[in-house]
Amino acid sequence: MAFEKNILCIGAGYVGGPTMAVIAAKCPQYKVVVVDVDKEKIRAWNSDNLPIYEPGLHELVKKTRNKNLFFSTENEKGIRESEIIFVSVNTPTKTFGQGAGKAADLQYWEKTAREILAYSNSSKIVVEKSTLPVRTASAMERILNENSKAIHFEVVSNPEFLAEGAAIQDLENPDRVLIGSRETPDGIAARKTIVEIYVHWVPRERIIESNVWSSELSKLTANAFLAQRISSINSISALCEKTEADIGEVAHAIGMDSRIGPKFLEASVGFGGSCFKKDILNLVYICESYGLEKVARYWEAVVEINEWQQSRFIQNMLTNMFNTVAGKKIALFGFAFKANTGDTRESPAIYVAQGLLAEQAEVVITDPEALKNARKDLKGFKKGLTFEPNPYNAVKGSHAIAVLTEWDVYRELDYKRIFKSMVQPAFIFDGRNILDRKKLFDIGFNVFSIGKAPLKHF
Ligand SMILES: NC(=O)c1ccc[n+]([C@@H]2O[C@H](COP(=O)([O-])OP(=O)(O)OC[C@H]3O[C@@H](n4cnc5c(N)ncnc54)[C@H](O)[C@@H]3O)[C@@H](O)[C@H]2O)c1
Repeated sequence: MAFEKNILCIGAGYVGGPTMAVIAAKCPQYKVVVVDVDKEKIRAWNSDNLPIYEPGLHELVKKTRNKNLFFSTENEKGIRESEIIFVSVNTPTKTFGQGAGKAADLQYWEKTAREILAYSNSSKIVVEKSTLPVRTASAMERILNENSKAIHFEVVSNPEFLAEGAAIQDLENPDRVLIGSRETPDGIAARKTIVEIYVHWVPRERIIESNVWSSELSKLTANAFLAQRISSINSISALCEKTEADIGEVAHAIGMDSRIGPKFLEASVGFGGSCFKKDILNLVYICESYGLEKVARYWEAVVEINEWQQSRFIQNMLTNMFNTVAGKKIALFGFAFKANTGDTRESPAIYVAQGLLAEQAEVVITDPEALKNARKDLKGFKKGLTFEPNPYNAVKGSHAIAVLTEWDVYRELDYKRIFKSMVQPAFIFDGRNILDRKKLFDIGFNVFSIGKAPLKHF
């Protein structure tokens, strides 16, 4: 069967896989191919054991795979046979040379662009799906269009706003889809071609068109604003702990102001994930390179507060457990950076686990989906570290529990049973404020939440 459009996505990660699965499901008349250099990942996408966990993803892939959705390692064939190429490769923080620790490392993006150029023998639309510094499209156009092949590439920006853990829901029902292009006739035509894909399921008024620079910068700005809200409420949580104000009550009171709104006001051990820190630092670097020092320092503080919140959490555990955790068993409930994902990139749990191990605690990690990644993240630590899928087994003989991921399963455990199996006095440090603290206190726990007065029996 001939397909109406041939779409390729380069990069089969957390964004490429789910995004293309939704496009394939919503547009059965299009052929969608996803390629990756990672053979193991592609093998997993073609199996029943997908490389990432997202609610609803497996069902969607089963419905479309090998009908109009294909996972492959054949970049060359994929590039040659497509008219539209989404690029969804990783853009991590640079670890070397100029801008190390802040700027985005664009080597994977540039390699991809050169590969597209090498294998193409017809004009194509190249879509920036990865999060990129503002003005990247200009460099990409230069690389792609300085060719002697008499073919033309139009670079369009279509940043992805999905949240891990709710990726399918976000992709099926997005708040908005943003598509930016050059404002030339060719640029606008390319933009319209990408709009045509999304109109199959996204209401037209939620598809925003803009110039390409606004689109690139909007993605960085959205992540900076989201992270800023978390750091803002976390900074106030520290003040609550000093003053007996309750962060839940403060968040509720300010969130009812329609100008502020109630979302993203949950105090916690801090934000994680592959994007917030990386994208803010990238924004900081861009501001610095334009000489905007004040703007750079303003956004950098969002990351600093987040790091401080994580170290404050460890310090709080130490202080309250009589200034030593050496030799004490501590169960970490959750290792993923948020609920409903197995992703642990930049998870606060990594930092907390490392801090406790440095204090010679015996750390037991439990998580419904993230143990495989947790093992990789902590592979340098051999002593004092165990992984246990069952939370009841994880807490046996422990002095403390630290809740680090807001999985529903931790709200529903039998804490009376857990209390009995622990060493007394038993401590709970709720880094996500998800547990019923009064109930836990009545059972006998000493309860420490974020931004609330502790409930202690001594
Ligand atoms: N994870 C998120 O929630 C999220 C949300 C929005 C935007 N983003 C952005 O999307 C981009 C991708 O993020 P991700 O989380 O999917 O990353 P990821 O690391 O999960 O996936 C990227 C994939 O690209 C592959 N790759 C790299 N170079 C390649 C090449 N030359 N050819 C083929 N494949 C190649 C890698 O092997 C990897 O599998 C990043 O720029 C990120 O900032 C991520």
